[in-house]
Amino acid sequence: MSRRDGYVVDVTYPLHFYKEMQPLWLNYVLNTLGCVTPDIGKQYSYCELGCGVGINLLVAAACNPQGHFVGVDFNHDHIIAAREIAQKAGIKNIEFIESSFDAFAKREHGRFDFIVSHGVWSWLPAEAKGALMQIVHESLNPQGIFYLQYMCYPGAARLIALQKMLHEVSLVSGVGSTESISQGMALLRKLADAGAGLFVDNPEIEKELTALEKEHPAYLAHDFLTHHWQPQHSSDVHRIISQAGVSYIGSANCLENMDALSVPGNVQPLLASAASRSLKEVIRDIARNQSQRVDIFQKEPRTFTSAEHLASLDRYTFKATDTMPTPGAVVFNTPIGKIPGPADLLTPLMSSLKLKEQQFADMRQLPVFRKEPGLLLQTLNLLMWAGYVHPLRAEGGDTGGAVGLQNWLSEQKIPLTLMPECGNAMIL
Ligand SMILES: C[S@@+](CC[C@H](N)C(=O)[O-])C[C@H]1O[C@@H](n2cnc3c(N)ncnc32)[C@H](O)[C@@H]1O
Repeated sequence: MSRRDGYVVDVTYPLHFYKEMQPLWLNYVLNTLGCVTPDIGKQYSYCELGCGVGINLLVAAACNPQGHFVGVDFNHDHIIAAREIAQKAGIKNIEFIESSFDAFAKREHGRFDFIVSHGVWSWLPAEAKGALMQIVHESLNPQGIFYLQYMCYPGAARLIALQKMLHEVSLVSGVGSTESISQGMALLRKLADAGAGLFVDNPEIEKELTALEKEHPAYLAHDFLTHHWQPQHSSDVHRIISQAGVSYIGSANCLENMDALSVPGNVQPLLASAASRSLKEVIRDIARNQSQRVDIFQKEPRTFTSAEHLASLDRYTFKATDTMPTPGAVVFNTPIGKIPGPADLLTPLMSSLKLKEQQFADMRQLPVFRKEPGLLLQTLNLLMWAGYVHPLRAEGGDTGGAVGLQNWLSEQKIPLTLMPECGNAMIL
């Protein structure tokens, strides 16, 4: 097994796609929260720190011709694989740089309108966290967006003992990462079956183990064998990240920005009366037993006036995706339980979207939403979270790389469908 700066490098991380990292998605979510965002109708720059084999960046580049996309990762095999896919797919507006964050922070690399990092922060030693923050501090343009995924408490607490065991096994197993994972998982299973107190006292941890047994060993190796794995409280992360000169704005998960839909009803009064923003975040994390966060920060955020805010939303056009169900009542299976979407709201909205693409400005003329743009926004965000609608890119431009990337994905039997008109993709 080999590690660099404590991070496993002898096994390739499997492909994982996150629609919430894509530039149009990030812009839209920030606009809904009332913030001015980078103009992605013009040329812009976007950097992913810890890009792995680059699937998120490749989708972004293939579907967003106005952007220039830069991926940074110190795993040689990841960068070679990512470059090969870009070359095969004919994607030109992308570059992959083999570098540690520390070395990247020290070299000349231009400035960015977006910096994103997923599956990285919670696994980094302090020095690499410092380098990542330095890159954000020095390279993000004003109103630039920083997206950060990380493991958080209280939900990730159920992983602590499992991670400890897998990591300790890796220190003595003397085998490669995936084999070490197999040994560690087998030992955990034996402990669970033997009725070890951890599993008896915490049935949720046994459920977690069963879920992890279904995961790819390479994924588990990256998740659990790093020396520095450390979940954090979101309020602590926000304080630390603010030292990079950016402010926390909200979640890239549009459901989580709507307390009415993502926090149990009887917790909402406690949330409303919380005395600080940090306390609110702690309450939200406890209410959702949250184990990971996808947070958006912004440099020098500027907020819209209410007229500008409405105008910014009015400009968005939405389309129904192929997965949108028949118009009518829909039950949304959210992390806090099933939320019934009533037919009187959803039927007119979904029917109009099934018919053709619709602008926000037009949809708010539907009788059920007239004078209630907030209700329309909330309903659209719920549909968007569920993958049933997506805003369209306003600007045109050739997305030639999308055809090549879709062909490559189909050849590899990867169930990802590009939506170049939406600057995004969908897992099918
Ligand atoms: C779990 S993978 C995440 C890949 C991708 N972002 C995703 O979510 O699918 C973490 C990546 O961060 C890279 N990484 C970890 N520490 C790093 C460092 N100090 N400098 C550069 N890359 C690093 C690893 O090589 C790995 O490819």
